[in-house]
Amino acid sequence: GVTREYWLSVENSTLAPDGYERLTCTFNGTIPGPAIIADWGDNLVIHITNNLEHNGTSIHWHGIRQLNNVEYDGVPGVTQCPIAPGDTMTYKFQATQYGSTWYHSHFTLQYSDGLLGPLIINGPATADYDEDLGLLFLSDWGHTPASQLWDIAKLGAPPTLETGLVNGTNTWDCSDSDDKACIGGGKKFETVFEAGKKYRIRVVNTAIEAHFQFSIDGHNLTVIANDLVPIVPYETESLLVSIGQRYDVIVEASAVADNYWLRAGWVTACSANLNPTNITGIVRYDNTSTADPTSTGITVGSNCGDEPLESLVPYLAMNVGNYTEVTEEALSFVFTNYFTWTINSSSLYLNWSDPTILRIFNNETIWPTDYNVVPIDQVDSSDEWAVYVIQDSSNLGLDHPIHLHGHDFWIIGQATGVFDVDTSALNLINPPRRDVATLPGNGYLAIAFRKDNPGSWLLHCHIAWHASQGLAMQFVESETDIAVSMTDTAAFEDVCAAWDAYTPTE
Ligand code: C2O
Repeated sequence: GVTREYWLSVENSTLAPDGYERLTCTFNGTIPGPAIIADWGDNLVIHITNNLEHNGTSIHWHGIRQLNNVEYDGVPGVTQCPIAPGDTMTYKFQATQYGSTWYHSHFTLQYSDGLLGPLIINGPATADYDEDLGLLFLSDWGHTPASQLWDIAKLGAPPTLETGLVNGTNTWDCSDSDDKACIGGGKKFETVFEAGKKYRIRVVNTAIEAHFQFSIDGHNLTVIANDLVPIVPYETESLLVSIGQRYDVIVEASAVADNYWLRAGWVTACSANLNPTNITGIVRYDNTSTADPTSTGITVGSNCGDEPLESLVPYLAMNVGNYTEVTEEALSFVFTNYFTWTINSSSLYLNWSDPTILRIFNNETIWPTDYNVVPIDQVDSSDEWAVYVIQDSSNLGLDHPIHLHGHDFWIIGQATGVFDVDTSALNLINPPRRDVATLPGNGYLAIAFRKDNPGSWLLHCHIAWHASQGLAMQFVESETDIAVSMTDTAAFEDVCAAWDAYTPTE
C-alpha cells in the first residue's frame, strides 16, 4: 500500500448549517469535515492540529482496528492525553479493513458540535453499481452547542435537540422568528439520479441521541455492508440505523417522478425531539427542478433496535471457533441515581493526564476504580476468543448502541430478558459481525471477538450523553504485549507533555 497524508485543523467556526447561526466545532471549517480516502492496505498519516482556544481534542477513527497500534485509537484518558490548544498530533495507522466509516472527536461531546468526517477505504467490490455517492451523514442537531447542554444533561434527562442534518445541512423556519441567530438560508441536501443507474450510498448515523429509520421514497435499498463488513445483499424499504452504525446500500434509479424525499426518520419512541419530520434531503431526477418533492414515504415506527440479525449475514463466512475453551463473562449495566451509569458497579471517569497506555508503559497497572478496567488475559494464539454477555439490569427499558474499539465483534446473542446461563442457544455459525450493536432495553447482548489485538479498548454506549455519564469501560487486552506492540511512543509522550503544560480555561 501507499502512504496517504492528510492535514486537519480543529477549529471553532460560527456556522448556520440549517439557517440558525451558532458556534460549532469543525475540521477545516466544514461539517462534515474533508473525506479521508484510502485503498485497502494503505498507510494513513493524519496530522491533527488543535486550533481551539479553550479546549483539548482527540480524534477517533471509528471502527478502525488499530491492529497492534492502540496508541492511535484517539481516546483521551485511555490511549492518549488530549491534544492541547496549539499542539499537533500525527495519527498513523494502516487500513487493514475496507468499507465505510467516519472519524470523530472522542473528547467530551465535541463530535456533536460538528467535529466529524467521512473515512472510506476502497476494497474488493461485492456488488455492482455505477456511481459512488460517498458517505451520507445523518445527525441530530441542537441550536445550542452540546457542550453547553452538558450542564443540563448531567443533572437529569438529556435536553431536547431542535432538529437534524443530512450531510451537514437542513432548513429551519425563521419566518416568524425575531431571534437574531435565526438568519435563514438553510438548504436541503440534494443529489441527482440518472434513470437506469445504480448508486452506492454509505449511510452513517452520527447523532448524539437520535435513532434513525432511513428511507428514500419510491426506492428500495439493497444493503451490501454493515459497518466495515460486507454482507450477503438483502433488500428493504427502510433501514434502522443506530448511532455509530453504517450501512452501504445500492439504490437503483428506477422511479418515474421528478423528485423524491430522502428521509432520516427520527424514531421518537427512543428519545424526544421537536421536529422529527423535517430531517430530509431530496433526490432529483430532473436537476433543473427546484420544487419540493410531493412524494410520500414509509411511516416511522417505534423500533429502537437494529436491523434483524437474520438479515445481516457476513459475505465472508466466519464461525466463532474454539468456543469450548472460553468461559463467558457477564458485564452488567446498571443505571444508578444522579444520572450515572455503571458497568460492573463502576462508572468510567478518566484522568486525561494519565491515560491507560501511559500507565502500562510506566508499569503502573494497579487500576483506579474509575478506569473501569476489565482485563483480558494474555493469550498464546490469536485463535482464542473473548466472549462477553452485556446485561442491562437498569430496568429502564432503554436500548443502547454498544460500540467496541479495536475489534469487530461477532453478535452471538441479542434479546430482551435475562441471559440464560445455558450457552447452547448462542449463535456461533457465521453470526453478524460489526462494531456497533444494540443492547436491547432490559435485555442482553452477547459478543465474541478474537483476542488478537493487544491494547486498551473502550466499550461504550454511543449515545453521547450516556457515554459522558460513565456508560463505558475498557478492556485491557494482553497487557504485557501492549508496550511491545506500540510502534511509536514519542507521539503520545509529546502530546501528554504539551497537555500537562497547558492550563485549561473555561
Ligand atoms: Cu464512534 Cu468510541 O466511538
